[in-house]
Amino acid sequence: MRTFCYLLLISLFTSLSNASIVEETCKNISSSHPNIAYDFCVSSFQSYNATSQVADQRTLAIIASRLANSSAAKTEARIQELMDKEKNQPRKNRLDVCMEEYSNAIDELGNAEQAIDAKRDTDAQVFLSAALDAASNCEDAFAEAEEACPLETEDGEYGQMAAIALAIVAALRR
Ligand SMILES: *[C@@H]1O[C@H](CO)[C@@H](O)[C@H](O)[C@H]1NC(C)=O
Ligand SMILES: *[C@@H]1O[C@H](CO)[C@@H](O)[C@H](O)[C@H]1NC(C)=O
Ligand SMILES: *[C@@H]1O[C@H](CO)[C@@H](O)[C@H](O)[C@H]1NC(C)=O
Repeated sequence: MRTFCYLLLISLFTSLSNASIVEETCKNISSSHPNIAYDFCVSSFQSYNATSQVADQRTLAIIASRLANSSAAKTEARIQELMDKEKNQPRKNRLDVCMEEYSNAIDELGNAEQAIDAKRDTDAQVFLSAALDAASNCEDAFAEAEEACPLETEDGEYGQMAAIALAIVAALRR
């Protein structure tokens, strides 16, 4: 009887860990946030090998902030590339706004990661909300000039990743 219970516990634990935590979290988030795609969420965590490690919600929140951080760093590199070949000054200024936004976002994400780790979830939420704004502020800089934003793809991916981190932290607080 004891062995049976032990085995039952093990299989229960196994079924709740790894892949299913990622899948269940992504399912929860995408069902309440129409702009977060389930597949994007799962494949992002898979790229970090989060599905092959035991990951609790707090660990997933940290992984999501790191993924948002790499996305922000990748976007910065793309902005630099665009700025280097941009001759038009007003357009260069708009790219500069985006650069500033993403540079701040990287700082906020570092603060968020520390806050999540220290279980200061309210602070983490504030940092992540500020970081998330980088994507829409960058888009706005171009929208105000009625110009297509050359960073639409990057803003979209970064925005989803930052929103995933924020949603997980919001759920931690409940
Ligand atoms: C998903 O949502 C359900 C219903 O709100 C909740 O009971 C469950 O704990 C959530 N799971 C995760 C992994 O967030
Ligand atoms: C994930 O695992 C694969 C295969 O073991 C490895 O090549 C890759 O570098 C790992 N990625 C990360 C982000 O740890
Ligand atoms: C965010 O990314 C930058 C650039 O790759 C890196 O220098 C920094 O350490 C990262 N921050 C965190 C908190 O991982």
